[in-house]
Amino acid sequence: MRDLVIGASGQVGGALVDHLNKTGVNTVGTYFLHNPPHFPLRSLDITASGAVQALLEELCPRHVYLPSSYTNVDGCEEDPERSYLVNVTGVKNVVEACRRLGSKLIYFSSDYVFDGKNGPYGETAPPSPISVYGRHKVEAEELVSSLSDSLILRTTVVYGREWQGKNFVVRLVKTLLDGKTMSVPDDQVGNPTFAPSLAEVAVGLAQQADCSGVFNAAGKDRVSRYEFAREAAYVFGLDTELVRPVSTESLKQKALRPLSGGLLIDRVEKLFPGILVGYREGLKILHRQLT
Ligand SMILES: NC(=O)c1ccc[n+]([C@@H]2O[C@H](COP(=O)([O-])OP(=O)(O)OC[C@H]3O[C@@H](n4cnc5c(N)ncnc54)[C@H](OP(=O)(O)O)[C@@H]3O)[C@@H](O)[C@H]2O)c1
Repeated sequence: MRDLVIGASGQVGGALVDHLNKTGVNTVGTYFLHNPPHFPLRSLDITASGAVQALLEELCPRHVYLPSSYTNVDGCEEDPERSYLVNVTGVKNVVEACRRLGSKLIYFSSDYVFDGKNGPYGETAPPSPISVYGRHKVEAEELVSSLSDSLILRTTVVYGREWQGKNFVVRLVKTLLDGKTMSVPDDQVGNPTFAPSLAEVAVGLAQQADCSGVFNAAGKDRVSRYEFAREAAYVFGLDTELVRPVSTESLKQKALRPLSGGLLIDRVEKLFPGILVGYREGLKILHRQLT
C-alpha cells in the first residue's frame, strides 16, 4: 500500500512528502514544471486525464493528496482559462481516477472561497468567492465532495521551508537581507499556517477511516499580513522598519483579496490538539530549520 502526493514539488506537497516519509509511509510524489534536484519525483500534468488515470492504475494508491493548483491568484484573474484547466478540469481528472481506483482523495482548498467580509470562517459557512481563483476552488470543492471517500482541507497563508523559495516568509527574508523595503498589507487578516503542521493534520485526517468532508487546518493566531511580516523580520534578526504597512487597495492587484479572512480551527484542534501552532512558534521553528 502506498500514498500519492500530486504536486510534491510545491510547498504543501513537499511538507506532505517529508511527513509521510518520516512516519514510514511508502510515498510517491509528482511534479509538473519544477523537478526538485534533491528527491526523485514522477512527472504528471493533472490536465491530462489519460496520464492521471495511468499513474493511478500503476500505483493503486490508498490515499491521493492533491495540493496541486495554479496558485497565482492574479495570474488566475488574468488567464481564467488556464485557471479553469488546472484548478477545475485537473481536479475533475483526479476525482474520476480516484473513483475508479477506490482511492481516498485529500484536496487542499483556501479561505479565498470566502469574500472576507466577516471572517474567520467555520467549515459550514457558505462560500462567497470574489476572484477567479476563489470561484474555481469552490467548483473544485464541489467535484471533490461528489466522491464519498474524500476530504477537503481549507488553509490560508502557508509558510515553511521550501526548495522553490516562493512563499511569503522566504521572499520577505530575501528582500530584507538585501536591505530593500517590503510593502505588506495591514488590512488583510488571516491565520498564518506552518506547512509541517498542515501536513501532519492532513495525514492524520486521511488515516482516520471514517473521516470525510470539509476541515479547516490553519495556524492558531489571526493577524494581519503586516503583523506577521514584522514578526518574521524580528525572528530572523532583520530590520523590522523595512516592513512597510500599506492598504490592499494601494497595491492595485488584479484580483480582489478577502480582507477579514482566516479560518476557525476548533474542529481540527479537538481531533489533533497542539499540532496547529501559532505564528510566533512556527516562525521560530522555521528560523531554526533555515539557519
Ligand atoms: N500557499 C498558501 O498560502 C495557500 C493558502 C491557501 C490555500 N492553499 C492551497 O494549498 C495548495 C498547495 O499550495 P502550495 O503553496 O503548495 O502551492 P505551490 O507551492 O504553488 O505548489 C503548487 C503545486 O501544483 C503543481 N502544479 C501546478 N500545475 C500543475 C499541473 N497542471 N499538473 C500537476 N501539478 C501542477 C506545481 O508543480 P510544479 O511546481 O512542478 O510546476 C506544484 O507542485 C493549493 O491547492 C492552494 O490552493 C495555499
